Amino acid sequence: MTEIIKVNPSMPEKAKIRRAAQLLSQGKVVAFPTETVYGLGCNAFDEDAVEKVFKAKGRPSDNPLIVHIGSKRQLPILVSGISEKEKKLIDAFFPGPLTLIMNKTGIVPYATSGGLETVAIRMPKHKVAQAILKEAGIPIAAPSANISGRPSSTTAEHVISDFMGRVDAIVDGGKSRIGLESTVVDASTSEILRPGGITKEEIEKVIGRVEISTASTNKSPGMKYRHYAPSAKVILFTGRKKAIQEYADRLMKSKKVGVISIYHSFRADEARHAGNSLHEYARSIFALFRELEEKVDVILVEGVEEKGIGIAIMNRLRKAASEIV
Ligand code: TXA
Ligand code: MG
Repeated sequence: MTEIIKVNPSMPEKAKIRRAAQLLSQGKVVAFPTETVYGLGCNAFDEDAVEKVFKAKGRPSDNPLIVHIGSKRQLPILVSGISEKEKKLIDAFFPGPLTLIMNKTGIVPYATSGGLETVAIRMPKHKVAQAILKEAGIPIAAPSANISGRPSSTTAEHVISDFMGRVDAIVDGGKSRIGLESTVVDASTSEILRPGGITKEEIEKVIGRVEISTASTNKSPGMKYRHYAPSAKVILFTGRKKAIQEYADRLMKSKKVGVISIYHSFRADEARHAGNSLHEYARSIFALFRELEEKVDVILVEGVEEKGIGIAIMNRLRKAASEIV
């Protein structure tokens, strides 16, 4: 049985927050909203609970979880020493869509850190997430709330469709505002391991030059896996507008075709013009994957400029695509 806890995202009801926090303290698995995507949470110190999260997601055990905190006071319990750069990033982006990789203390189980000596830490800004984290008082390990390899969840309905009957509770707090996961940063090497909700430019304003690590050098275990993919085949277009319509026209002779676009409109069985800014595109891309996979065989996606949040959007689209044109 999965309990659905529907909360008011701008004014979370105390009793409901208390219920979610109580379940987490008891070692239960509870999905909850953050401003990036929904997370599938459990007590980060409880190896059995962590095990349940890996199992529910079908996630390889070498791919570590992010530990979410409700207060910066929890940091010294989880990490051994905070560098100058890390301190600056924490001051600038906690709470927010930033995850920092830091050296873990002995208290953080290897089950949570995927066997690594480091741990990923994030303090989300979403009111519901903050309320639950503060009420529970324990750090909450939470990967994105999707079956491994599927598009991340940006609404409770997405979480329900992946996890109904397989987790203890799902907190419904509406739509995630950003729609893409947090930016994962290793400040010790000045690297972005996963582009996300905070841009490279924003990070560089705080700690100076950083590099986005490439696939071959990436130290983030999660980046080697295929990701974010709907069940329909995804074709990503990085070039001219004309190619998309040509593909759509040709494929529609034998298949149901969907198009997700930002700059132009197209004719297809299911055409979605997804917003007028990169932020709107980011917010809707995973939801559109999940909507269109029910309706079409192939999804053609218009790529964006790799600038600002566009870097994170293209990172997700490349991983979801089985063909890039
Ligand atoms: O926005 C987000 O980050 C969401 C919300 C729920 O907080 N969470 C999320 O978690 O996206 P997940 O598990 O789907 O992605 C975490 C990423 C993975 O690529 C993982 O490999 C990496 O962070 N990671 C975690 N711990 C790490 C570590 N110690 N060293 C390097 N990479 C790590
Ligand atoms: Mg994920």
